[in-house]
Amino acid sequence: MSQHSQIVSFDMVRLLQPLQDELHAALQRCLSHGTFVLGPEVLAFEAQLAHWLDVPHVIGVSSGTDALLATFLALQQGNGDLARLKPGDEVLTTPFSFISSATSILRAGLRPVFVDLQPGCFYPGVDEFAQAWTPKTRAVLAVHLFGEPLDLIQINKLCVSRRAVLVEDCAQAIGATHSNDRPVGTTGVAGCFSFFPAKNLGALGDGGAVITTDETLAARVREKRQHGQALRYQFDHLGGNFRLDALQAAFLSALLPHLDTWIAERRSNAAYYTEHLQQLARLRPDLLKLPARTPGHAWNQYVVRSSERNKLRAALQAAGIQTQIYYPTALHQQGAVASASPPASLPLAEKACREVLALPIAPGMTQADRERVVAAVKTAF
Ligand SMILES: Cc1ncc(COP(=O)(O)O)c(C=O)c1O
Repeated sequence: MSQHSQIVSFDMVRLLQPLQDELHAALQRCLSHGTFVLGPEVLAFEAQLAHWLDVPHVIGVSSGTDALLATFLALQQGNGDLARLKPGDEVLTTPFSFISSATSILRAGLRPVFVDLQPGCFYPGVDEFAQAWTPKTRAVLAVHLFGEPLDLIQINKLCVSRRAVLVEDCAQAIGATHSNDRPVGTTGVAGCFSFFPAKNLGALGDGGAVITTDETLAARVREKRQHGQALRYQFDHLGGNFRLDALQAAFLSALLPHLDTWIAERRSNAAYYTEHLQQLARLRPDLLKLPARTPGHAWNQYVVRSSERNKLRAALQAAGIQTQIYYPTALHQQGAVASASPPASLPLAEKACREVLALPIAPGMTQADRERVVAAVKTAF
């Protein structure tokens, strides 16, 4: 163990230290008006986020998981053009994501079908989705993993041409933008965000949001978050308690003005790692692969790959540097979903699970921290 202090993956206490006054003011406001579920704080945060993202509809919900679940439930309701899904329909998605990308599909009565990754990427591309298509495919869930904005133009064209819906899991990607400067979550019918503390915009607890340009879908998601209630105490369709706490909305309103700065820090940390590790990655591509420098990346995670991942992780740990493995097991191999999805061998996703390692990248890191991380990676090999 080095004599240096530990570099942790994410130090939220340090990040929030300078913001104590704003956060106390948010708490104080809630204590004085006494509305702790939905209400003015949630409305204000939704409006603030809609402005920040430049989208017409934001619905605050209880988590990123519930954002996905509410969206998939809403897409099955009614007779109009929007009710495009029905129970048992297949949703193509990635096997390389957090569990709720898949369980939200399943819990909504739909069937996740996992599609292997595009070579060299952390996600399936349009060719992989097209090959996996069956007559039962009615939707695609694309995941902007690690904050990387996926180019969804071709995937969206595929969906439109086959009358399927595209939903975007943006849980890790607030602040990521496409080449036209539009935020992720606006190509498909809806974008689903998470405010879990370790996300780019993290609440002091759980929270999430659905964004959409579709007014009808927005209204349905709003009903879903309130048990499917259309009129007071009238429940014609199944929903849940997917409400965002007023307190979390008040904290998020206080934190959102800092998001641009935090993302800039993440981008700076990513650029530093790439600049200082690219020579090693070029010389020993088997030992170190750096993440793609996709424009508009919001860098929730900086994930390298190594055929000697465990050795690298041990060396970093010995140098006092915390790392994370996102994700050690692919979704098609998780018991919670495997029994409900067709058996599959997805070698590229399985290989990614054996090779990935997330280096610390969160805002609040110092120049000395970044230098230590780079030095430790170099020393490991
Ligand atoms: C890709 C992805 N989807 C969905 C979620 C679910 O978000 P939450 O934890 O807010 O429920 C997460 C959270 O880690 C995630 O990373």
